[in-house]
Amino acid sequence: MQTIVSPSLLSADFNHLAKDIEMINQSEADWFHLDIMDGVFVPNISFGFPIVQHVKKLAKKPLDVHLMIVDSDRYISEFKKFGADYLTVHYEACTHLHRTIQAIKAEGMKAGVSLNPHSPVHLLEDILPDLDLVLIMSVNPGFGGQKFIKNSLKKVEQLKAMADRINPNLIIEVDGGVDNSNAKLLCDSGANALVAGSFVFKSENPSATIHQLKTLNFNQ
Ligand code: DX5
Ligand code: ZN
Repeated sequence: MQTIVSPSLLSADFNHLAKDIEMINQSEADWFHLDIMDGVFVPNISFGFPIVQHVKKLAKKPLDVHLMIVDSDRYISEFKKFGADYLTVHYEACTHLHRTIQAIKAEGMKAGVSLNPHSPVHLLEDILPDLDLVLIMSVNPGFGGQKFIKNSLKKVEQLKAMADRINPNLIIEVDGGVDNSNAKLLCDSGANALVAGSFVFKSENPSATIHQLKTLNFNQ
Protein backbone atom coordinates (compact mmCIF):
# COMPACT_ATOMS: atom_id res chain seq x y z
CA MET A 1 0.00 0.00 0.00
CA GLN A 2 1.28 3.46 -0.89
CA THR A 3 1.83 5.93 1.93
CA ILE A 4 -1.09 8.20 2.74
CA VAL A 5 0.07 11.83 2.76
CA SER A 6 -1.85 14.29 4.91
CA PRO A 7 -0.52 17.87 4.69
CA SER A 8 -1.21 19.87 7.86
CA LEU A 9 -3.00 23.14 7.15
CA LEU A 10 -1.54 24.61 10.35
CA SER A 11 1.45 25.66 8.24
CA ALA A 12 -0.63 26.91 5.30
CA ASP A 13 -0.98 30.57 4.37
CA PHE A 14 -4.23 31.61 6.08
CA ASN A 15 -4.36 34.82 4.01
CA HIS A 16 -4.66 32.64 0.94
CA LEU A 17 -6.15 29.48 2.35
CA ALA A 18 -8.23 28.73 -0.74
CA LYS A 19 -5.05 28.72 -2.83
CA ASP A 20 -3.34 26.20 -0.53
CA ILE A 21 -6.47 24.04 -0.43
CA GLU A 22 -6.53 24.00 -4.22
CA MET A 23 -2.82 23.09 -4.30
CA ILE A 24 -3.62 20.05 -2.14
CA ASN A 25 -6.62 19.19 -4.31
CA GLN A 26 -4.39 19.17 -7.38
CA SER A 27 -1.51 17.33 -5.67
CA GLU A 28 -0.97 13.65 -4.87
CA ALA A 29 -1.91 14.25 -1.20
CA ASP A 30 -4.62 11.94 0.11
CA TRP A 31 -6.12 13.89 3.00
CA PHE A 32 -6.26 17.32 4.63
CA HIS A 33 -4.87 17.29 8.19
CA LEU A 34 -6.62 19.82 10.46
CA ASP A 35 -5.22 20.54 13.92
CA ILE A 36 -7.76 21.68 16.50
CA MET A 37 -6.12 23.08 19.68
CA ASP A 38 -7.97 24.45 22.69
CA GLY A 39 -5.27 26.18 24.76
CA VAL A 40 -6.02 23.75 27.61
CA PHE A 41 -4.86 20.31 26.53
CA VAL A 42 -2.05 21.97 24.57
CA PRO A 43 -0.43 25.38 25.12
CA ASN A 44 -1.76 26.87 21.88
CA ILE A 45 -5.07 27.72 20.22
CA SER A 46 -5.47 27.06 16.52
CA PHE A 47 -8.87 27.24 14.82
CA GLY A 48 -12.35 25.79 15.13
CA PHE A 49 -15.57 24.98 13.31
CA PRO A 50 -15.77 27.97 10.91
CA ILE A 51 -12.41 27.05 9.36
CA VAL A 52 -13.25 23.33 9.20
CA GLN A 53 -16.51 24.21 7.46
CA HIS A 54 -14.80 26.47 4.93
CA VAL A 55 -12.08 23.92 4.19
CA LYS A 56 -14.77 21.28 3.66
CA LYS A 57 -16.48 23.43 1.02
CA LEU A 58 -13.34 23.53 -1.13
CA ALA A 59 -11.60 20.27 -0.27
CA LYS A 60 -11.93 17.39 -2.70
CA LYS A 61 -10.27 14.92 -0.31
CA PRO A 62 -11.17 13.58 3.15
CA LEU A 63 -10.63 15.73 6.25
CA ASP A 64 -8.30 14.12 8.80
CA VAL A 65 -9.15 16.05 11.97
CA HIS A 66 -6.73 15.87 14.92
CA LEU A 67 -8.32 17.05 18.17
CA MET A 68 -5.93 18.38 20.79
CA ILE A 69 -8.71 19.35 23.17
CA VAL A 70 -10.26 18.29 26.46
CA ASP A 71 -13.89 17.17 26.50
CA SER A 72 -13.87 15.86 22.92
CA ASP A 73 -17.21 14.12 23.55
CA ARG A 74 -19.01 17.47 23.59
CA TYR A 75 -18.04 18.23 20.00
CA ILE A 76 -18.19 14.89 18.13
CA SER A 77 -21.49 15.52 16.36
CA GLU A 78 -20.42 19.05 15.37
CA PHE A 79 -17.25 17.75 13.77
CA LYS A 80 -19.35 15.32 11.76
CA LYS A 81 -21.70 18.14 10.77
CA PHE A 82 -18.84 20.39 9.68
CA GLY A 83 -17.19 17.74 7.56
CA ALA A 84 -14.69 15.55 9.42
CA ASP A 85 -14.11 12.14 7.83
CA TYR A 86 -11.44 10.90 10.26
CA LEU A 87 -11.68 12.11 13.85
CA THR A 88 -8.69 11.51 16.12
CA VAL A 89 -8.74 12.17 19.85
CA HIS A 90 -5.87 12.05 22.34
CA TYR A 91 -5.46 9.09 24.66
CA GLU A 92 -4.26 11.52 27.33
CA ALA A 93 -7.38 13.70 27.05
CA CYS A 94 -10.10 11.04 27.17
CA THR A 95 -11.13 9.45 30.45
CA HIS A 96 -13.68 7.13 28.83
CA LEU A 97 -11.88 6.47 25.59
CA HIS A 98 -13.96 3.43 24.61
CA ARG A 99 -17.16 5.46 24.86
CA THR A 100 -15.62 8.31 22.85
CA ILE A 101 -14.52 5.95 20.08
CA GLN A 102 -17.96 4.35 19.86
CA ALA A 103 -19.55 7.81 19.65
CA ILE A 104 -17.25 8.81 16.75
CA LYS A 105 -18.11 5.62 14.88
CA ALA A 106 -21.84 5.99 15.59
CA GLU A 107 -21.65 9.34 13.77
CA GLY A 108 -20.26 7.54 10.73
CA MET A 109 -16.68 8.83 11.00
CA LYS A 110 -13.48 6.82 11.12
CA ALA A 111 -12.04 6.82 14.62
CA GLY A 112 -8.45 7.48 15.63
CA VAL A 113 -6.46 7.79 18.84
CA SER A 114 -3.30 9.84 19.18
CA LEU A 115 -0.46 9.16 21.61
CA ASN A 116 1.82 11.83 23.04
CA PRO A 117 5.58 11.14 22.89
CA HIS A 118 5.64 9.92 26.51
CA SER A 119 2.74 7.46 26.20
CA PRO A 120 3.75 3.86 25.39
CA VAL A 121 1.88 2.07 22.63
CA HIS A 122 0.86 -0.85 24.87
CA LEU A 123 -1.72 1.49 26.43
CA LEU A 124 -3.75 0.98 23.25
CA GLU A 125 -3.81 -2.81 23.31
CA ASP A 126 -7.41 -3.17 24.54
CA ILE A 127 -8.87 -0.43 22.33
CA LEU A 128 -6.93 -1.35 19.17
CA PRO A 129 -9.58 -3.65 17.63
CA ASP A 130 -12.03 -0.72 17.68
CA LEU A 131 -9.75 1.77 15.94
CA ASP A 132 -9.34 2.75 12.30
CA LEU A 133 -6.23 4.79 12.96
CA VAL A 134 -3.52 5.49 15.52
CA LEU A 135 -1.64 8.78 15.34
CA ILE A 136 1.83 8.65 16.86
CA MET A 137 2.93 12.15 17.87
CA SER A 138 6.60 12.55 17.06
CA VAL A 139 6.72 16.00 18.72
CA ASN A 140 4.87 17.34 21.74
CA PRO A 141 1.57 18.51 20.30
CA GLY A 142 0.77 22.21 20.08
CA PHE A 143 3.01 23.73 17.43
CA GLY A 144 4.24 23.14 13.92
CA GLY A 145 7.92 23.26 13.01
CA GLN A 146 9.32 21.27 15.94
CA LYS A 147 12.11 18.73 15.89
CA PHE A 148 11.27 15.06 15.31
CA ILE A 149 11.67 12.86 18.40
CA LYS A 150 13.65 9.79 17.33
CA ASN A 151 12.08 7.42 19.86
CA SER A 152 8.92 7.62 17.71
CA LEU A 153 10.49 5.14 15.26
CA LYS A 154 10.60 2.49 17.97
CA LYS A 155 6.98 3.24 18.87
CA VAL A 156 5.89 2.83 15.27
CA GLU A 157 7.64 -0.56 15.13
CA GLN A 158 5.97 -1.69 18.35
CA LEU A 159 2.57 -0.49 17.16
CA LYS A 160 3.00 -2.22 13.80
CA ALA A 161 3.75 -5.53 15.57
CA MET A 162 0.69 -5.11 17.77
CA ALA A 163 -1.50 -4.16 14.81
CA ASP A 164 -0.35 -7.20 12.79
CA ARG A 165 -1.58 -9.33 15.67
CA ILE A 166 -4.80 -7.54 16.60
CA ASN A 167 -5.91 -5.17 13.82
CA PRO A 168 -4.04 -5.62 10.51
CA ASN A 169 -6.07 -2.91 8.75
CA LEU A 170 -5.03 -0.23 11.21
CA ILE A 171 -3.71 3.01 9.71
CA ILE A 172 -0.50 4.02 11.49
CA GLU A 173 -0.04 7.77 11.07
CA VAL A 174 2.88 9.88 12.30
CA ASP A 175 2.69 13.60 13.03
CA GLY A 176 5.41 16.10 13.91
CA GLY A 177 8.73 17.01 12.33
CA VAL A 178 8.20 14.63 9.42
CA ASP A 179 10.61 15.42 6.58
CA ASN A 180 13.04 13.88 4.09
CA SER A 181 15.34 12.71 6.91
CA ASN A 182 12.78 10.42 8.56
CA ALA A 183 9.84 9.74 6.19
CA LYS A 184 11.30 6.59 4.68
CA LEU A 185 12.53 5.28 8.05
CA LEU A 186 9.02 5.79 9.43
CA CYS A 187 7.44 3.85 6.59
CA ASP A 188 10.05 1.09 6.87
CA SER A 189 9.14 0.87 10.56
CA GLY A 190 5.46 0.37 9.73
CA ALA A 191 3.89 3.81 9.29
CA ASN A 192 1.49 4.07 6.36
CA ALA A 193 0.30 7.65 6.78
CA LEU A 194 2.45 10.76 7.17
CA VAL A 195 1.38 14.22 8.32
CA ALA A 196 3.64 17.06 7.22
CA GLY A 197 3.17 20.76 7.90
CA SER A 198 6.30 22.86 7.58
CA PHE A 199 8.12 20.37 5.35
CA VAL A 200 5.38 20.82 2.74
CA PHE A 201 4.36 24.46 3.12
CA LYS A 202 7.81 25.97 3.73
CA SER A 203 9.23 24.19 0.70
CA GLU A 204 9.74 25.95 -2.61
CA ASN A 205 7.34 23.65 -4.41
CA PRO A 206 4.78 22.17 -1.98
CA SER A 207 3.18 19.96 -4.56
CA ALA A 208 6.56 18.46 -5.56
CA THR A 209 7.31 17.90 -1.86
CA ILE A 210 4.02 16.04 -1.52
CA HIS A 211 5.06 13.91 -4.50
CA GLN A 212 8.36 13.13 -2.75
CA LEU A 213 6.54 12.06 0.41
CA LYS A 214 4.17 9.95 -1.64
CA THR A 215 6.97 8.14 -3.45
CA LEU A 216 9.51 8.37 -0.58
CA ASN A 217 12.05 9.41 -3.15
CA PHE A 218 13.77 12.64 -2.14
CA ASN A 219 16.39 12.76 -4.88
CA GLN A 220 14.05 14.06 -7.57
C1 DX5 B 1 1.37 19.63 16.03
C2 DX5 B 1 0.36 19.23 15.02
C3 DX5 B 1 0.93 18.90 13.70
C4 DX5 B 1 1.71 20.02 13.04
C5 DX5 B 1 2.85 19.34 12.31
O1 DX5 B 1 0.80 19.61 17.28
O2 DX5 B 1 -0.38 18.10 15.43
O3 DX5 B 1 -0.03 18.37 12.80
O4 DX5 B 1 0.97 20.80 12.14
O5 DX5 B 1 3.69 20.29 11.82
P1 DX5 B 1 5.17 19.96 11.37
O6 DX5 B 1 5.05 18.97 10.24
O7 DX5 B 1 5.70 21.29 10.94
O8 DX5 B 1 5.88 19.38 12.56
ZN1 ZN C 1 -1.70 17.10 13.91
